[in-house]
Amino acid sequence: MIRPTTPAETDALVALTDATGMFKSIEVVALREVLDDFHATNHADDHHAITLEENGDIRGFAYYAPAEMTDRTWQLWWIVVRKDQQGQGVGGKLLRFVEDDLRTKRNARVLFIETGSLPHYELTREFYRKHCYEQHALLQDFYAAGDSMVVFRKALG
Ligand SMILES: CC(C)(COP(=O)(O)OP(=O)(O)OC[C@H]1O[C@@H](n2cnc3c(N)ncnc32)[C@H](O)[C@@H]1OP(=O)(O)O)[C@@H](O)C(=O)NCCC(=O)NCCS
Repeated sequence: MIRPTTPAETDALVALTDATGMFKSIEVVALREVLDDFHATNHADDHHAITLEENGDIRGFAYYAPAEMTDRTWQLWWIVVRKDQQGQGVGGKLLRFVEDDLRTKRNARVLFIETGSLPHYELTREFYRKHCYEQHALLQDFYAAGDSMVVFRKALG
């Protein structure tokens, strides 16, 4: 079941994100701030956080929001699947839910996703390619020397 994320599960979502081993500690801290801000105010600005759970067991989540000062451009801020659940279709369900929601309810035009260029993100980049995202840009050394930003894009019209 995919449903709106609740404030009570912030600790669980931050912990499962940390436990993937994919994110820097500063990013994990930022996630808590993003979720706190979401529940406090940003949900009113058309930000969305969704959780996939089965029988009360949280498997993953996604967070997406419109890009400010654009015409119906959206960004996927986060998508994370619990480590022991990866590679079993959970991320695909979350991403399809996001795309369907953006197409059918929000008249979105395009969705951008940012990720890292380092080797441990190769499976993640492959995940986006399999969902028909085009690798649109590479911002050389964006995060750090040798750690670039890879931007994926998909038209939703
Ligand atoms: C990237 C991620 C969201 C994909 O979700 P998922 O549930 O593992 O992916 P799915 O099962 O829906 O799709 C599997 C496909 O995605 C790719 N993939 C990405 N990460 C994978 C992983 N950890 N294990 C297996 N396949 C993975 C493979 O290409 C795979 O294709 P295959 O089944 O033909 O081998 C998830 O693995 C994850 O949370 N990774 C760590 C955090 C992360 O990178 N988040 C995105 C930050 S930008």
